[in-house]
Amino acid sequence: TVRSSFVVVANRLPVDEVSTPEGRQWRRSPGGLVTALHPVLAEHKGTWVGWAGGTGAAPEPFDLEGIRLHPVPLSAEELERYYEGQSNATIWPLYHDAVETPAYKRRWREAYRLVNARFAEAAADVAAEGATVWVQDYQLQLVPAMLRELRPDLRIGFFLHIPFPPIELFMQMPFRTEILRGLLGADLVGFQQRLAAQNFVRLARHLLGLRYEGQMIQVDGRQVKAGAFPISIDTREMERLAEDPAIQARAKQIREELGNPKTIILGVDRLDYTKGIELRLKAFRELLADGKLTVPDAVMVQVATPSRERVEHYQALRVKVEREVGRINGEFGRVGVPAVHYLHQSYSRSELAAMYVAADVMMVTPLRDGMNLVAKEYVASRADQGGALVLSEFAGAATELRQAFLCNPHDPDAVKDALLRAVHVEKPEARRRMRVMQRHLRSHDVGHWAKSFLSELGVPDTEAA
Ligand code: UDP
Ligand code: G6P
Repeated sequence: TVRSSFVVVANRLPVDEVSTPEGRQWRRSPGGLVTALHPVLAEHKGTWVGWAGGTGAAPEPFDLEGIRLHPVPLSAEELERYYEGQSNATIWPLYHDAVETPAYKRRWREAYRLVNARFAEAAADVAAEGATVWVQDYQLQLVPAMLRELRPDLRIGFFLHIPFPPIELFMQMPFRTEILRGLLGADLVGFQQRLAAQNFVRLARHLLGLRYEGQMIQVDGRQVKAGAFPISIDTREMERLAEDPAIQARAKQIREELGNPKTIILGVDRLDYTKGIELRLKAFRELLADGKLTVPDAVMVQVATPSRERVEHYQALRVKVEREVGRINGEFGRVGVPAVHYLHQSYSRSELAAMYVAADVMMVTPLRDGMNLVAKEYVASRADQGGALVLSEFAGAATELRQAFLCNPHDPDAVKDALLRAVHVEKPEARRRMRVMQRHLRSHDVGHWAKSFLSELGVPDTEAA
């Protein structure tokens, strides 16, 4: 085994194995975690431990663009219980304010424990003496403590990409103490928001009676630090991509394909019930019904990337969203001129960049979201400083992107109002807002995020690089 001094452990590797008629192929994995970590790993030349998609035996470790990938296998049953069950039908909804009801099952919990142990063992195998291991996200909350048990010599960080709930919600979980103990195995536990870090230290006192001072918790004679480290994007790379003449040309082509409407309204999300896709569609429908917007002057493009398709709440959401799209197109479309272009597909980064450049208004309306990188990508891609961002107050990104058209997604009138204001904003005003947000993203990019976290963890700049 190749041993590394910098190891990232995440449920997913940056690539997914897909079997096609031509045999095995690799495809970029979905979601913001991969978007954020990929540039960090590329810079730090470490090892990435994670699941390669698929079930059964894992592929042998291999190198990809300077990153060492170390696949961890999942059986079909583990996929169902650990990933779809405990991770995505229990923890995911619970941590997102229980916007859908979390389900609790003993056998899911057991699979979660077993798979977390496997990830911890894999990390222990590939980490060099005294290495830094950075564990990621809600699927692997037991790993820090398990890894410390195996390898007390390691420096262990944990980062949660999704929200961390208030005590009242967290306390629902049957194996809450074990999860908390798992996280407390890290030296540093990072969150997207200050409030989340506060929820965590208070929970440690509430559940285990631990003392804390500021963000520092005393546990078994060790100190565990909590902190907020809002994640971001590779801003420069996004800017470069969006300025690429090929992308600019593609953006123009997209506009033409949509019939050169005055206003293109765009949504880009995994098809997830936390993203507020339905309420966004409803706002659009009501504005069409009120005569405040008309087709074909305004059209909406909604990318809804397939996600967690075997989980019940996701299946139900798909039905609801597709019914709403059908309703809008039935009422307001014409032959050859739909009101909503609904795309239940996964897109490459370059095609998304072209869509961002083409869109006059970007709608990001989650009911709850740890950060939301799509919002940041849209802002970074507008070199022309055109476009307007409608952003939910309940996305982590709203803490930073204050010049967006902010709205409360639970209030339909507020969403409609924000959308209309974004559609009608004067150019100079739109530009001013974009400029401020772009400046912020240039200094607060993903490199800044990783650096702040790692230096708080005590990793010298030169060591990980
Ligand atoms: N994304 C993508 N292709 C798609 C849809 C999304 O590459 O078809 C990317 C998108 O550019 C962003 C990430 O997936 O980088 C989504 O991250 P975000 O934080 O917005 O949401 P998450 O999916 O992590 O909840
Ligand atoms: C969010 C989570 C990630 C996850 C991603 C995609 O970004 O925070 O941990 O990888 O969604 O979801 P998936 O279930 O396909 O990995």
